[in-house]
Amino acid sequence: MSATKLTAARDYEKKYGSQITPEERPLFHVTPMVGWVNDPNGFSVYQGEYHLFFQYYPYDINWGPMHWGHVKSKDLVKWEHLPASLAPDEEYDKDGVFSGSAVETPDGRHLLMYTGVVGKDPLDCRQTQCMACGDGLHYKKYENNPVITAKQLPEGGSAIDFRDPKIWWDKEEQCYLSVVGNRLADGSGAVLLFSSSDGFAWKYVSTLDAGRNQLGKMWECPDFFELNGKALILISAQEMRAQGLKFHNGNDVFCLVGNYNRKDHRFTREEVLAVDYGLDFYAPQTVETPDGRRVMIAWMQAWESSRFHPEGAKWAGMFTIPRELSFVNGQLIQNPVREFLQYHVEPVLYQNMKIEGRTKLPGISGRVLDMTVEIRPDEAELFENLTIHIAENEEYVSSIVYDPREHTLCFDRTDSGFRYNIVSVRKAPVRDRQGKIRIRIILDRFSAEVFINDGEQVMSSCLYTPQEADGISFEAKGIAWIDVEKYTLTDSPKGAS
Ligand code: FRU
Repeated sequence: MSATKLTAARDYEKKYGSQITPEERPLFHVTPMVGWVNDPNGFSVYQGEYHLFFQYYPYDINWGPMHWGHVKSKDLVKWEHLPASLAPDEEYDKDGVFSGSAVETPDGRHLLMYTGVVGKDPLDCRQTQCMACGDGLHYKKYENNPVITAKQLPEGGSAIDFRDPKIWWDKEEQCYLSVVGNRLADGSGAVLLFSSSDGFAWKYVSTLDAGRNQLGKMWECPDFFELNGKALILISAQEMRAQGLKFHNGNDVFCLVGNYNRKDHRFTREEVLAVDYGLDFYAPQTVETPDGRRVMIAWMQAWESSRFHPEGAKWAGMFTIPRELSFVNGQLIQNPVREFLQYHVEPVLYQNMKIEGRTKLPGISGRVLDMTVEIRPDEAELFENLTIHIAENEEYVSSIVYDPREHTLCFDRTDSGFRYNIVSVRKAPVRDRQGKIRIRIILDRFSAEVFINDGEQVMSSCLYTPQEADGISFEAKGIAWIDVEKYTLTDSPKGAS
């Protein structure tokens, strides 16, 4: 094995990563040490700490031959950069170490499972599944890689589009299981299940579900877990057609909801849900925390706009805030991990503020904050809409518009200063609460994540507006009443010395 490529990447990121000042990054959203990131990989708990790897090309702010970058955290909020962990340096992965996942073995090793790519042409390459093993810092690829090849595919399965294994240790079956994305003979996606007793020798078990050309084309980055009595499969699908307000980002994410029969390893689909209604959300991956929560993180970017960068960018791509998931009344509920509350300082509270026209509230401004706005109608008449303007100055503004009659929340970054307005407006359907809504907005310099009605819908979007544009104002057409609870976010948690 040649370690030259990995050493080169580590030297490069050390040298150039240190030239990026903390102010040029978000405060707590993970960014690469330098260069480009896409999918989160290997989101796992290892020796009591959270580890996150990611698709990484340190040498440019555009996608290139994929490496794995690496960060770790004690609380899912503050992350520490670690040296790159994998480089495309073997015959079977020389054109890319693509997405994958990680698990801790009973004997204390950190096992990584990823896709090795050979061939630069996406229409004519070979993708196989490979393993690497390490100690939380250094990883060694398995000497008998690849561990799953096209030979193990079911009839019609593509050897070109066969990627992104998500591994876990299945307590009930007492073996490793892994779901892998594939494309079948009809040209559209499927999610395949494989099993292994030792994590190295794998066999095909079943095809959990397939798109049959109804849900995009290739199914990437599958994840599979049980939550509140249901079986959920997360899929990031290429070439997704829009459906009403859902799936307007080109490649987009959905959640298949159904039941899983362990005896014959069959999944019966009941529903397809959108996961995030924002402009930037792809390739989510989950981990189960030691206290039993299912936490999801995603690339906060859409492929379609990822080639365009703000001027002078030294890094490209970041991850959402990790979110706790639950499945309640047919909905996938997402909220920022509770650890996040430790980073709240300087509360500013307003109650029963009458909004008529455009209003600013003293103390309510900033680009690194967590703010919840409760909106209520006036007794006399339902307002037409209520807008929260953010990242605002004379030149720029982004807007969050609640329409209580249409039951939608709209996120609009048309005037955020981004030079490439590809899709810049998205709408989410919201529950009819007769003009009431609760909107939690998390701003972290280069992004806005909007959690609606305690996580019933979420909208995640990058915001490249210059940081000087830090105004916030409220504007009603009609009369609305609001409560505001705003916290500045700090990077040292409460209780830390
Ligand atoms: C999804 C994806 C994966 C692949 C990776 C390559 O965004 O296309 O399917 O493994 O990115 O970087």
